Amino acid sequence: MTLEQEIERRRTFGIIAHPDAGKTTLTEKLLLFGGAIQTAGAVKSNKIDMGTRSDWMDIEKQRGISVATSVMGFDYKNLKINILDTPGHEDFAEDTYRTLTAVDSVIMVIDCVKGVEKQTEKLMDVCRMRNTPVICFINKLDREGRDAFELLDEIEEKLDIKVRPMSWPIGMGKTLRGVFNIHENNLNLYEPNKQKKVDEVVQIEGVEDPNLSNYLPDSAIDTLKEEVELVNGVYDEFDSKAYLNGDMAPVFFGSAVNNFGIRELLDCFTEIAPQPYSRETEQREILPTESKFSGFIFKIHANMDPKHRNRIAFVRVCSGKFQRGSNYFNVRQNKNFRFSNATAFMAQQKETVEEAFPGDIVGLYDTGNLKIGDTLSEGEKGIYKGIPSFSPELFREVINMDAMKSKQLEKGLHQLMDEGVAQLFTFEMGARKVVGTVGALQFEVLQYRLLNEYGANAKFEAVNIYKACWISGGDDKLDAFVKDKYRHIARDKEGKLVFMAETKAWLQMVQENFPDVQFHFISEF
Ligand code: G4P
Repeated sequence: MTLEQEIERRRTFGIIAHPDAGKTTLTEKLLLFGGAIQTAGAVKSNKIDMGTRSDWMDIEKQRGISVATSVMGFDYKNLKINILDTPGHEDFAEDTYRTLTAVDSVIMVIDCVKGVEKQTEKLMDVCRMRNTPVICFINKLDREGRDAFELLDEIEEKLDIKVRPMSWPIGMGKTLRGVFNIHENNLNLYEPNKQKKVDEVVQIEGVEDPNLSNYLPDSAIDTLKEEVELVNGVYDEFDSKAYLNGDMAPVFFGSAVNNFGIRELLDCFTEIAPQPYSRETEQREILPTESKFSGFIFKIHANMDPKHRNRIAFVRVCSGKFQRGSNYFNVRQNKNFRFSNATAFMAQQKETVEEAFPGDIVGLYDTGNLKIGDTLSEGEKGIYKGIPSFSPELFREVINMDAMKSKQLEKGLHQLMDEGVAQLFTFEMGARKVVGTVGALQFEVLQYRLLNEYGANAKFEAVNIYKACWISGGDDKLDAFVKDKYRHIARDKEGKLVFMAETKAWLQMVQENFPDVQFHFISEF
């Protein structure tokens, strides 16, 4: 197969959702319908069970499972589909945001009872940064959920995206009778079944087809006709261009746990989802079809077994062909490395990979050289754009408890930051080190790993910081600001200037007083 053909057949996407909406269930069902697994129940949830946790090691062990399911590749209808899993727990949200930089599209799961939840909104913001195409799957139709139109309104409003229903529910909860596929004009009758793999659809000629009465009572047909008429009147036709630009989300309805509505989703996905497209480096746009290999690292997973201190770096291939055993250039380090140990992910098995193509994810074993955001190439020097850091939610100061081990602490902190466990900010004044995280869990992770892997004993003390804001502006104005607020200025791990605001009100005041300085809550602006 030529490189072009390999690219054309790849679809790399992520499934995102607020915890509990049904992401794990849907992932599994897609694998089941795609023929990648034979029975339901084979995909372990990477959900972290906080209720029964005794310490964070348990959580890490549970999280270890997610390495195996980090990427699930399978062949379906001549396509190579790569599903990238995202951690369910909110404390690992930053991991999810980074994973989204490595996909070409997403499927967003929404619980029909709960509607658009907080985490869904945040995830959508991240998708919008790169105009990632989104398909929505409204799940749990077997429950008494909210009105379908109301849910669609909420998606449009809260997620700021146009929607186009591709299927329509006939009833909901106890009265659920099926879904009508507007896109293909067929009827999928509901029958709860957790193991079935084929949806037997009834082909009909639209909602006016008299044959409908063989399957549905008159009242259900009347409602369906009315609603489909309304759908076609209110929502624009599906527009592939708008979907690919991230402006329109096609919407499907179903029940993942009952294997219902999955086939429609998967088939439409394979029809409309984008193949790998070009990506930008600092220097230029790189096409996937370029013959030279390039890719970037979006995730690093540490091996928790102290006897094997290696880590796995996940590389998204962006152009050319990756070949095991080749030397590739790490742009940040300006150095060539040989990658003889590379892993691909098929269904749930890891296997050694000889070659990989744009859209594929390769796992590289690493002993500490690689860092999230690194670009690998065949010599070209541009770094792939787009792995931003978000201003953390919680901040604590690092206190070294053992003066003899400062070097170990320094090394440990830097390596753990490279893995993306948390963010480190070093104050210009006094070199105070403050760590920022999304959740409290990461402080436990850091403390434990610093001690066990690096022999460094550190404590994390509460500090009064509300937000870390990356700052920019004209040189003079920025210099004047930094001088004025020098006690509150720090640098992130890349050396970028950051203003550490103590309270929301104070930040607002400072923003008003320095209108020429821009304050950003994301490291890329
Ligand atoms: P997540 O990865 O998004 O966090 O969600 P997950 O798939 O783990 O699903 C969360 C819960 O919702 C699970 O129940 C799952 O069975 C249930 N669920 C998923 N799809 C549907 C659906 O279509 N209808 C209904 N009624 N429930 C659904 P659980 O009780 O937490 O776990 P389990 O014991 O059922 O596995």
